Amino acid sequence: MRNIAMLGSGFIGRFYADSIQGHRNRDRIVMIQSRSEESCTVFAKKYMVAHWATDIETAVAHPEVDTVIVALPNHLHEEAIMACVRHNKAVLCTKPLGRNAAEGLRIMKAVEAAGIFNGYLEDLVYTPKFLKSHQVIASGALGKILWTKSREAHPGPHSEWFWNKELAGGGAILDLACHCIEVSRSFIGKYIRPIEVMCWADTQVKPIDAEDHAIGLVKYESGAIGQFEVSWTFRGGLDLRDEVMGSEGTIWSNGFLRTGLEVFTSGKGTGYMAEKTETNQGWTFPAGDELNELGYNHMFTDMFDSLDQQKPPKETFYDGYIVNAIMDAAYLSVKSKQWEPVLLAEWRGRENTEQENLLTSYDDEHWLIKEELTHYGTQKLILKEKATGRIFERLL
Ligand SMILES: NC(=O)c1ccc[n+]([C@@H]2O[C@H](COP(=O)([O-])OP(=O)(O)OC[C@H]3O[C@@H](n4cnc5c(N)ncnc54)[C@H](O)[C@@H]3O)[C@@H](O)[C@H]2O)c1
Repeated sequence: MRNIAMLGSGFIGRFYADSIQGHRNRDRIVMIQSRSEESCTVFAKKYMVAHWATDIETAVAHPEVDTVIVALPNHLHEEAIMACVRHNKAVLCTKPLGRNAAEGLRIMKAVEAAGIFNGYLEDLVYTPKFLKSHQVIASGALGKILWTKSREAHPGPHSEWFWNKELAGGGAILDLACHCIEVSRSFIGKYIRPIEVMCWADTQVKPIDAEDHAIGLVKYESGAIGQFEVSWTFRGGLDLRDEVMGSEGTIWSNGFLRTGLEVFTSGKGTGYMAEKTETNQGWTFPAGDELNELGYNHMFTDMFDSLDQQKPPKETFYDGYIVNAIMDAAYLSVKSKQWEPVLLAEWRGRENTEQENLLTSYDDEHWLIKEELTHYGTQKLILKEKATGRIFERLL
């Protein structure tokens, strides 16, 4: 049983609280910290939280608290985590870990030097669809992973600080590509080193200094490419779509919109439909159980089970740091319009992964390019002579 201090009572603090206390459970939020007394007491009443505080230090230091969840704006992550280090409390932090890799690295080093439990709250690698996908990939059913494509696009975040480049640390890349990059790493293999990034970004619609739209390619040492597509300009809800392409198979997944539940309403009597839904009139496509479908339930189960067993969870601050380093390279690439290296001060994965040879020999003299049954009933081979390089067709 964990006694939790929740730092932040906003959008994600409430999602986390709903997941932790929404069902009968043994973990409890015993302290809520928010900027105003009013927000604290509203949250405390709703979630039956015994204590509240308007400052971070008091909340973290409270003797009943053994675990802290950081659900604060990006510019406060480091300050909040350093308080956990001072008071020797286990800490779980929402995404992104830092506003850049330097901040992420300082945070990671501080918690590791203190020896405190750390968990990176990347819920999207814990969705039921992705947990199943990870099993399928681990079984070898997809062969070698060649290309992943991860999209998160919506009409923009809900609080003012996200739109302030200084406080948030960036725009749509920092806010959304952090999800997409970790999702791709989970498919490609987190032990495979990210090498370089090419990224386009622009401010297409919103009157802000940061980017509101970006598309990037992350190249991995295995030869795999992880593509991210992120936007704050998308109209129509929360678009979470992912693809994994391997040498032996493919996975397509739609995480949130049009996943099977379709609701039409004239608009009478409807309130909240689903995250980032732009309308509650006409046809809408709400998720059946947002908490579960976005991965929160499985994520907290892994975090708290790992804490009890004193083992690292699936996602740690080290992962948060790697994601920050990849995003730093993306921002450099946006400026330089070149591939930019991913600079890692710390790498704990595999070194010098060789690119696997996927060529198929047809016989001693030939490579097999393709075998196909045509619509007119012929079995056709496309072969390449190993000695000369000549490509030709053979009908069987
Ligand atoms: N799926 C996810 O993992 C996910 C989704 C949304 C947000 N987040 C992350 O959660 C964190 C919080 O985002 P949110 O959407 O809950 O934000 P929010 O604006 O809804 O809530 C922020 C909370 O922090 C408090 N706060 C304290 N000091 C503040 C300050 N100086 N300025 C603004 N707020 C202050 C606010 O009172 C509020 O309780 C961010 O790091 C964000 O990236 C993660």
